[in-house]
Amino acid sequence: MLGGKNILLGITGGIAAYKTTFLVRLLIKAGATVKVILTDSASSFVSPLTLATLSKNPVLTSFVKEDKIEGTTWNNHVEMGLWADLMVIAPATANTLSKMSNGTCDNLLIATYLSAKCPVFFAPAMDLDMYKHPSTKKSFSKLDSFGNIMIPAGEGELASGLYGEGRMAEPEEILEHIKLFLRKDLPLEGKKVLITAGPTYEAIDPVRFIGNHSSGKMGYELANVAARMGADVILVSGPSHLSVEHRGVKLVKVISADEMYEAVHSYYTAMDIVICAAAVADYRPKTKADQKIKKSDVEFHIDLVKTKDILYSLGQNKKHQFLVGFALETENEVENAIKKLKKKNLNLMVLNSLNDKGAGFGKPTNKVTIIDNNLEIKAFELKTKTAVALDIINEIILKINA
Ligand code: CTP
Repeated sequence: MLGGKNILLGITGGIAAYKTTFLVRLLIKAGATVKVILTDSASSFVSPLTLATLSKNPVLTSFVKEDKIEGTTWNNHVEMGLWADLMVIAPATANTLSKMSNGTCDNLLIATYLSAKCPVFFAPAMDLDMYKHPSTKKSFSKLDSFGNIMIPAGEGELASGLYGEGRMAEPEEILEHIKLFLRKDLPLEGKKVLITAGPTYEAIDPVRFIGNHSSGKMGYELANVAARMGADVILVSGPSHLSVEHRGVKLVKVISADEMYEAVHSYYTAMDIVICAAAVADYRPKTKADQKIKKSDVEFHIDLVKTKDILYSLGQNKKHQFLVGFALETENEVENAIKKLKKKNLNLMVLNSLNDKGAGFGKPTNKVTIIDNNLEIKAFELKTKTAVALDIINEIILKINA
């Protein structure tokens, strides 16, 4: 797929730089010609000699080139920028992102970036608070407005020992992004996709609610992947700390199951594909107290009533839409998932088993089994939620094109 492509890889100074040795190998294996530019601090994390050996090209680090025969010459950033069919900056530190977005041209990498006329990808890597900082977010959106393509960081353990967003995408995911970009015919071009994500909060009084531990991660990943595949995506999300990374995703924020029901139904008719990944509360308090409920010495009970089942209602009103649901089961998993698939009139059911280690709420990984309405069953390995999202979207594409 990358045969004949010239790829310029810019590496900046973050611990994730060590992973770029694998990235270079993957790119070369996929048929690309790779040249590498390192910033000064990047060479403390990964050796120029390793990268030169793997890429089979000299690694460039500064404007000035010292050669015993030719003497002092310079590395021509304009030529390099024009040579590249694609530029990938990975890991992209907060510092480099800020320089890219402001045009602060103080090293060979930024000079080449500013000279490049090709598509530019960047894969951020930093600590979670840096990733969340408004100034980093500003760099992301500025770079997006320049047409640069972000390969979002994943969630996981960070070099600082903290846990959260900021881990550079794995080399395989970076390659996947590049391949997807190079596909001329995006498989979901022109399709409208609605995805529900996150938990819902059901108010007890103005300060308390009934909720669950869903982070929204699976739904947000699905939204990003669908958008990358060309779809116009509406992401109806319950409360979540996650943000949307692709400009093809419109985020509609809701809080309760009722609000989610209303939002989803207001878009439903125009949709081609609907994926319900939200962990919607099945019950809500019958009434919401107007004032904060005071404690007393006696026991306290809350009357619960059922919420509307959004997916069931979509299934009953289904016309042309391709409908996908999720089932979280702990026993008789496949059997129960099939029951739900039939009851809710779905085209596909994604089964999560809580019995699988590493899968489920708040985890960065997931292990799913996908069942279609002909009861064909496909089990997948434990993977990152981004990779699982890719499997699910690919499965939907296979079915809608069958
Ligand atoms: N769902 C929904 N609206 C609800 C409840 C669930 O849209 N009020 C959707 C979820 O987004 C998911 C699917 O229905 O795609 C399955 O939800 P789940 O809670 O596993 O199944 P239930 O049918 O609620 O059954 P149970 O909780 O008893 O397993």
